[in-house]
Amino acid sequence: MSSAEIESVLHENRVFEPSSDFVKQANISGMPAYQVLCDEAERDYEGFWARHARDNLLWQKPFSRVLDESDAPFFKWFDDGELNASYNCLDRHLNAQPNKIAIIFEADDGTVTKVSYKQLFHKVCQFANGLKSLGIKPGDRVVIYMPMSIEAVAAMQACARIGATHSVVFGGFSAKSLQDRISDAGAVAVLTADGQMRGGKEIPLKPTVDEAIAMGGCGSVKNMVVYKRTGSDISMQEGRDVWLSDLVQNQPDVCEPTWVKAEHPLFILYTSGSTGKPKGVQHSTAGYLLHAILTMKWTFDYKGSDVFWCTADVGWVTGHTYIAYGPLAVGASQVVFEGVPTFPDANRFWKMIEDHSVTVFYTAPTAIRSLIKLGAELPKQHDLSSLRLLGTVGEPINPEAWIWYYQEVGGGRCPIVDTWWQTETGGHLLTPLPGATPLKPGSCTFPLPGIMADIVDETGESVPKGHGGILVLKKPWPSMIRTIWGDPERFKKSYYPDDFRGKQYYLAGDGASRDEDGYIWIMGRIDDVLNVSGHRLGTMEIESALVAHDLVAEAAIVGKPHDVKGEAVIAFVVLKGARPSGEEAKKIAKTLRDWVGQDIGAIAKPEEIRFGDNLPKTRSGKIMRRLLRAIAKGEEITQDVSTLENPQILEQLKETI
Ligand code: PRX
Repeated sequence: MSSAEIESVLHENRVFEPSSDFVKQANISGMPAYQVLCDEAERDYEGFWARHARDNLLWQKPFSRVLDESDAPFFKWFDDGELNASYNCLDRHLNAQPNKIAIIFEADDGTVTKVSYKQLFHKVCQFANGLKSLGIKPGDRVVIYMPMSIEAVAAMQACARIGATHSVVFGGFSAKSLQDRISDAGAVAVLTADGQMRGGKEIPLKPTVDEAIAMGGCGSVKNMVVYKRTGSDISMQEGRDVWLSDLVQNQPDVCEPTWVKAEHPLFILYTSGSTGKPKGVQHSTAGYLLHAILTMKWTFDYKGSDVFWCTADVGWVTGHTYIAYGPLAVGASQVVFEGVPTFPDANRFWKMIEDHSVTVFYTAPTAIRSLIKLGAELPKQHDLSSLRLLGTVGEPINPEAWIWYYQEVGGGRCPIVDTWWQTETGGHLLTPLPGATPLKPGSCTFPLPGIMADIVDETGESVPKGHGGILVLKKPWPSMIRTIWGDPERFKKSYYPDDFRGKQYYLAGDGASRDEDGYIWIMGRIDDVLNVSGHRLGTMEIESALVAHDLVAEAAIVGKPHDVKGEAVIAFVVLKGARPSGEEAKKIAKTLRDWVGQDIGAIAKPEEIRFGDNLPKTRSGKIMRRLLRAIAKGEEITQDVSTLENPQILEQLKETI
């Protein structure tokens, strides 16, 4: 982050206090109440988390130990306790509110289907019994590659019910990405659908799973369960593939939960890092679920009368914590949406909020920015008075988009919770509390109670107010990543490097700064990870995809600010043959973009490709990424380039196609 960037955010002095009406009814009401919780955690860290774990989770066997640090940084929480996540999400509501609507599902074409808690419970139980009948056992890994649907949520819950560890792969990922994940996880089954509907178009899913398996390395997969969504013609392999409807048909609609240890891996979710292949972030059962529940209550100020809507896909962590687990565990009614915000037009979100009387709405800054572009005046055409709270996640929100969201969507009355967290953190860590925190547009404000966040320099010393540094977590917390599936060394290296002079801090990988009032401002990644439309992409992953193409000798990927996506992927490419120009360059650029789309998924396709005879390198052969970033942004290069091996290359790379 440049000092100019830090300067500009640190001088944001618009402050939005929560209204007295909101404060009055809030679960955490006013800053003193927040401070009381923070003080309690400070005084007795384990006691604080133990109290919440007892109050919020239903335990089959109570825990007697809270935090076990003996094998740090492989921390364990509540580890001699036993519970079941699905029991905590469904069975607990069967007496008190069996007929309450759990999910209001709206399909791409607008068809609405609702299920009550009791109906969802039976659906999950039948699904779970079906999985058992296939021989799936506790600890087995099950890959889920499904469209947004009640069935996808039920699939995750069914795995949790029988103690199988799910690994959801976003439906937009390619066959190759899917194959990598199936093989890394050693999945015994894949739960999928014939296809999915997005924006009026059908996207195949089962054929992609077949393609992934045909690539090899997926020998662990014994079964495939297929949910019929689109009805399109697909091939089923005798003895391996079964329709979901056939699997559950004669299954009992009750399934005893399998009690698992608190640390039992509830799921693995793959995410990009700065090096190598995507890493399988492994989460626990108890600690993870505890934080999902607490943040529903704290950050989203959950009330029984709420209609909650998180617009994320279940393929991302946001869809895990704030669709599949958090809302169900607190007994909320929630909207689950199959489609996209711009189909049939850019009114879709606002119309759905009106139709379903949504009270809490949680989305990504990139969606907000694209909807401003497509129709800043559209929210006015809808009755959005049901809304009481708004949220954002995934990337920094620029103050202009924040103000628009606040005024035009929230009518100036709804607090906005700008929630900072990661796949690895399991749930929100830095966020305003809507009935307490005075908001500053673009700041995720303060850590939640019990979260020991700080901004430090390379030696691990806290930086003074008004300065930037590295965001760290000084103490382990219950919902943190436990390890990288199959690669504990990489876990240590990535999150607990030997930096900070021996202090054992969790390295988030983000730069941040704190203003004079103590507000935290996230400044973006400090590693080679890009954030494109709120999705994490490793530059190395895209580079590897490009150099795997026959035409390509070398490639470097950098990010460039983008007014809707936040960041765009820019590729600098050296071909094995001569540097192309004109029509030929355009043709090759298209070929390479499609190639990346096929290798990783459409989200990773470079926005621009620039060709050079070489890349700017130091005399020791290191690619000067800083220069590439400047070129991508169209900035003048002011720094001394005399140490470059080949300064003349810079001119070539300025040319876009
Ligand atoms: O850089 C931060 C950014 O997204 C990264 C985590 O990405 P992922 O694991 O895909 O999870 C996204 C959804 C939780 C972080 O390291 N990020 C996330 N939330 C924010 C954010 N940056 C700024 N403000 C946020 N609210």
